[in-house]
Amino acid sequence: MTRVLVTGAAGQIGSALVPALQDAYGEAAVVATDLHERHTEGAAPVHALDCTDRDQITVLLRRHNPDVVYHLAALLSAVGERHPQRAYDVNLGGLFNMLEAAREQGFALFTPSSIAAFGPSTPGDRTPQDTLQRPTTMYGVTKVAGELLCDYYHTRYGVDTRGVRYPGIISATPPGGGTTDYAVEIFFAAVEKGSYTSFLAPDTQLDMMYMPDAIRAAMDLMEADGRRLRHRNAFNVTAMQLTPATLASAIRAHIPTFTLDCEVDPMRQAIAESWPRELDDSAAREEWGWSPHYDLTETTADMLRLVRERTATPAH
Ligand code: NAD
Ligand code: SER
Repeated sequence: MTRVLVTGAAGQIGSALVPALQDAYGEAAVVATDLHERHTEGAAPVHALDCTDRDQITVLLRRHNPDVVYHLAALLSAVGERHPQRAYDVNLGGLFNMLEAAREQGFALFTPSSIAAFGPSTPGDRTPQDTLQRPTTMYGVTKVAGELLCDYYHTRYGVDTRGVRYPGIISATPPGGGTTDYAVEIFFAAVEKGSYTSFLAPDTQLDMMYMPDAIRAAMDLMEADGRRLRHRNAFNVTAMQLTPATLASAIRAHIPTFTLDCEVDPMRQAIAESWPRELDDSAAREEWGWSPHYDLTETTADMLRLVRERTATPAH
């Protein structure tokens, strides 16, 4: 039986990943952890694990003895700019603690990087797998350093570290304070109010992916034959390139009266403009068979269905 532990399990990605892992490996095989303990009806219990607390990590990981850890605990880009020192501690200090535990206990470690690992000097169109990485946010700095740390632990100690550079993730689970959060908020606003005020300018293009593809990317990479992985810790992956305006017109196919306006948040606009417009994910396709299943049309239809269910709002 494969035993799995997830950190940051109560967040946007974790709350979708945990049930998917339970489906694949069985409920008893999956341990969900986050900063604070949680008991929500119908969901796996979340155990307290602060990834900046080395002693707590050692005790909990020895107790559960996982084969694979999905390390999702992090502060995202906008929160990270408001609290850079805390972002450094959680994103890099927490990762260092998990890598040390992986070295001592021998588990495989999945750590997501991000489009934020690139910066304004990176080629923004068809951004290559291997290219310039000079990010200008604390979040991005921790993501590049994290990619390098994971590479180091693999080559120096043989730890089975793997990861992807996620684009913005669209889901009906709430996002945690990133620059791409507009692409989730817009669906809730469309269903609940029929209008949305975007904090990014309407023509700001970024890579995006629907949650089921993000979950499949993580799980497929961890199941892939490690001998085929040349870029093991930082695979570019993408599914679609969106702007607030293109997302609004996809929503208008379902809600014709939907309106989009915009009040730009200068901090998040500057972050978005420093990130690629479209990643080249051919290394992931070649080395472990990655390909997305959801395009904009399918994502929009499914998101509106889920958001209506969650907000109990009937279709117009
Ligand atoms: P999120 O903010 O929704 O969730 C992160 C979780 O980490 C939260 O539940 C939070 O409580 C927890 N956490 C914070 N500090 C902690 C600590 N000290 N110890 C333990 N847990 C702590 O983030 P997410 O969107 O689920 O992202 C998960 C991972 O994926 C992160 O590494 C993030 O950088 C990466 N990623 C996410 C996106 C996206 O669009 N969601 C895109 C690229 C990369
Ligand atoms: N979605 C994330 C953010 O905006 C990208 O890593 O911070």
